[in-house]
Amino acid sequence: MLEVIHISDTHFGPDRSLDIRGANACARSEALVSEILNLPFVPDFIVHTGDVVNDPDSGAYQLAAEVLSQLPAPVYYATGNHDDVPMMRAALDFGEMGLIVPEEKEQLCYRIGGAAGEMDFFVVDGKVPPGEGPHGFVSENQMEAVINAISGEKPVAVFLHYPLTPIGSTWIDQHLLVKNGRDFQDRLAEKAGSHLRGIFSGHLHRGLQIYRNGVLQSGVSSPACEFTAGPTDQSCDFLPGGPIPFNHITFSKDATTVKSYSLPFG
Ligand SMILES: [Fe+2]
Repeated sequence: MLEVIHISDTHFGPDRSLDIRGANACARSEALVSEILNLPFVPDFIVHTGDVVNDPDSGAYQLAAEVLSQLPAPVYYATGNHDDVPMMRAALDFGEMGLIVPEEKEQLCYRIGGAAGEMDFFVVDGKVPPGEGPHGFVSENQMEAVINAISGEKPVAVFLHYPLTPIGSTWIDQHLLVKNGRDFQDRLAEKAGSHLRGIFSGHLHRGLQIYRNGVLQSGVSSPACEFTAGPTDQSCDFLPGGPIPFNHITFSKDATTVKSYSLPFG
């Protein structure tokens, strides 16, 4: 059994002063870390599904490293549309991992190592070139790398910044999903079969629960600010000052359990 904490979208600024519509991003991430430290167990590892910082900046990553290094278990990071791979790798400590795509391509695609040995956990980079986002896209070389790395004998879970499947909200479905998400899920399912235990994402700044073809897709919100998501929204607004969110995922022999926590700030 593995206990995993899923966090996302911390949006650290270059210093502690960054407010997003009046909500202080750093203070709210510090509250997130405190809540995880207060859990009555120590997780096996923690996955941050991207947007570590609000804008790529070495000072922002240093601040993120200072705060997130207090977490009680190895941390693994996915690339968000606000992130920069070389800056992330330079500033942040990752747990034991193995790249499955060469890093010179500036794609961060790897297998989670360490305690994750009883499962195949992968972190995939869906970032598109600057100016083309904020949707995502999973490159062919990453798809091939992940598919080839799936043993077919262990449970499989994938983490990436961007959700794969429409949620029924116009603006989000047009702008925030992985463009080739259906293809990616179908190819994962074809190789992993019933071993595919879930696909986990951030980016929406709100929770997500979807089953498509029997596969769980789960998302966690942002401690910095939530997004609105009405069914006919043509844009996306912020709901700053909301709760501090994280998900506790338990992978057991025959179940994937996601407990979503929303805790008061302050
Ligand atoms: Fe974000």
